[in-house]
Order: sequence, then C-alpha cells, then structure tokens
Amino acid sequence: MTAYAYFRKQFVPLSEAKIGIMTHCIHYGTAVFEGIRGNWNSQQKQLYIFRLKEHYERLHRGCRVMRINPLHSVDELCQITIDLLKKNGFQEDVYIRPVAYKSAETLGVRLHDVADDLFILAIPWGRYLDVDKARAGLSSWHRPDDNVIPPQAKVCGVYVNNALAKSEAIEHGFDEAIMLDPNGHVSEGSGENIFLVINGKLVTPAIYNNILIGITRDSVIQLAKQELGIETIERNITRYELYTADECFFSGTAAHITPIAEIDHRQIGNGEIGEVTGKLQKIYFDVIRGNNPKYLDWCTPVYQ
Ligand SMILES: Cc1ncc(COP(=O)(O)O)c(C=O)c1O
Repeated sequence: MTAYAYFRKQFVPLSEAKIGIMTHCIHYGTAVFEGIRGNWNSQQKQLYIFRLKEHYERLHRGCRVMRINPLHSVDELCQITIDLLKKNGFQEDVYIRPVAYKSAETLGVRLHDVADDLFILAIPWGRYLDVDKARAGLSSWHRPDDNVIPPQAKVCGVYVNNALAKSEAIEHGFDEAIMLDPNGHVSEGSGENIFLVINGKLVTPAIYNNILIGITRDSVIQLAKQELGIETIERNITRYELYTADECFFSGTAAHITPIAEIDHRQIGNGEIGEVTGKLQKIYFDVIRGNNPKYLDWCTPVYQ
C-alpha cells in the first residue's frame, strides 16, 4: 500500500516528498518539529491521536520563536493530520512527524527573509525505548540554556545536543541519557522528561531546568493528581536525589512512561517497576488508547 505524506499543501506518496540540497533548514537546523502518537485500539478498531491540539499549539509557539510561518492554523493542522492518517489507512500504532521549516533554497545564517513550508509524515511505530525498565547514565552533555537556544521549542538544530547525549549513553552501555542543566541540576532524557518518586510525591525538573515542557509530562501530572491523589513538585533536583529516589521514570510521546531501574550503575528502589510508576503506566496506557471515558477529550479518533 502506498504511504502518503502531506507536502507542499497536498497529499503525495511519501517516496515523492523530496527537498533540494540547498534548502535552508538542512544547513542551519532552522526548523521546528513535533512528535505525536496515534494509538491503535484493536477492540474498537479505532486509531486515537493523543492530545493532537496541544502538539500543534506547541509547534505554533516554536514557530514564533524561529520566525517560521506554520502556514496553517492549529485546527487546520489537526484536520490535515486526521485526513493523512485516514488516507494511509493505518490499523496500528503510528508516529506523526510534522516539520515547519525554512524551505527557501538559499544560503546565509539568518531567520528573516527566508520562505517557510510545512510537511507532515506518519509511520507505523512501536516502542521507542525497547526495554521494560531502562538503565540510564548521566550525560557529559548539558541541556542548552534558554539564551543559547530555547529548549522549550522543538527546534531541529537543538537536537544535535540530544543526539550527542543519546549516542554517548548507548556507547557507554546504557539505554538512555539523563542530561543536567548548565547549573548541574537534573534536566531530562534525550527525548523524554524525567520524574522521581520521593516519599510518595512526584518530583520533576521545572521549566528553569531547560526542559522541553512535555505533553506526556503534563498528562502524568494531571493523572497522578486526579487518579492517585499524588501531587507533583516542580523544582531543582540534585544528582544525589536522582541516585537515591524511591522510583524514577521517563515520560514522552515516543517512550510513553518508561521505568528507570538503574542510573550510573546504582539501582533505583529495588530495581523493579515501582508501585507509583506501575499504577501510572497502567492508567496512562488505558487513557491513550481511548479506554478511559474520563479522558476521551485527549483522544482524537481518526475513523468515523
Ligand atoms: C527533549 C525532549 N524532552 C521531552 C520530551 C517529551 O515531550 P512530549 O511528552 O511532549 O513528547 C521530548 C519529546 O518530544 C523531547 O524531545
């Protein structure tokens, strides 16, 4: 079956969606992207896109930082995405990748006076961190400060930082990196936010720790409060607290909720999936597949 992408304002076969080697964003990373998941519910034969609108609102905010015209309103982008998934006829978990980019075929380091475009592609995608419990290592690479490149925007060029950290972690025998901010406080994984459970409360780095404000992070905070009565504290986290937390997990669109069993060869808790983490995982997986009626407004169905 032909796979389709949304490219230059139309649906085209993915294999025909190509950009030239002079394109500005290839040279300077001048693009903003999103990662969105569609989660297949096999009983309902339905594909639910998780928190679609929030992803495009974040894309729009990133475009403002990067002076990119996203070409479409948030509502239009949501509709195009639904239409794209329908056209592809997916009946499995998928990952959706919109990219708003400096599309002019011109060189020169700048953001002004460079034309913009947007594409959306979607591919079948299962697990990202392909482990039940992750082994993580602290990275020698720090997250960039807000005055280097705002890490709250998903700017393509920023992800060189994440790629450096990820490869270093894998090559050191870990599953994922944990990066610190320039002040030495815990920031996030290479593609995930991080949560600790300390004395029955959730603790997670704050916006001033140079994190991406994750949509899964927000979902976890809301679900913990509403379903488990657990508050989340957003604050500076030290390396000591990371090593000695009762439980620890990553959250992200790609990685969902992934428990962390070990950090820098130190076992977290008893090295198994912690009680709070396990409960949150179960609630979250029900929610994203449209199995919890309370949270259906987070789930956009693709098929009628
Ligand atoms: C660096 C980084 N942090 C955190 C996240 C998690 O964000 P979200 O839950 O919105 O996917 C991502 C993924 O988008 C990411 O790339």
